[in-house]
Amino acid sequence: MSKLWKDSYSLEIIEIDNQHKELFRIFEELLIAMSKGKGNEIVLKTLNNLENYAQMHFGVEEKYMQKFGFEQFQDHFEAHQYFYQKIAELKKAYQENNLTVAKELMDFLNKWVGKHICGTDALYKDLFIQNNVI
Ligand SMILES: [Fe+2]
Ligand SMILES: [Fe+2]
Repeated sequence: MSKLWKDSYSLEIIEIDNQHKELFRIFEELLIAMSKGKGNEIVLKTLNNLENYAQMHFGVEEKYMQKFGFEQFQDHFEAHQYFYQKIAELKKAYQENNLTVAKELMDFLNKWVGKHICGTDALYKDLFIQNNVI
């Protein structure tokens, strides 16, 4: 398991936690490469992995939110759209030979963990648990 994962990130929903752990695994891979000065070599692969990850994970969250009539669905959906948009922007920057993409992606993921996983995602926790998502 990724060393970046902390129990305080848990929403106490195994299915969701396991998916979030996958984000930390992808993130850790980037950080390890960056620490060896190889961030630029891995960043495109990381962006592609994040795109695939987002399609799977956001799809699951959005499916449950809609099924259970989550009131803040629209805000949450828009936050997910912002993630896709950011990944697309960073991909474009990489293709334009911007050498700061790995660092920008690292900063973005750090903020995403704090604001989205620990903030926005935590808002649906009780509703999902009440509806027996485990
Ligand atoms: Fe999430
Ligand atoms: Fe989310």
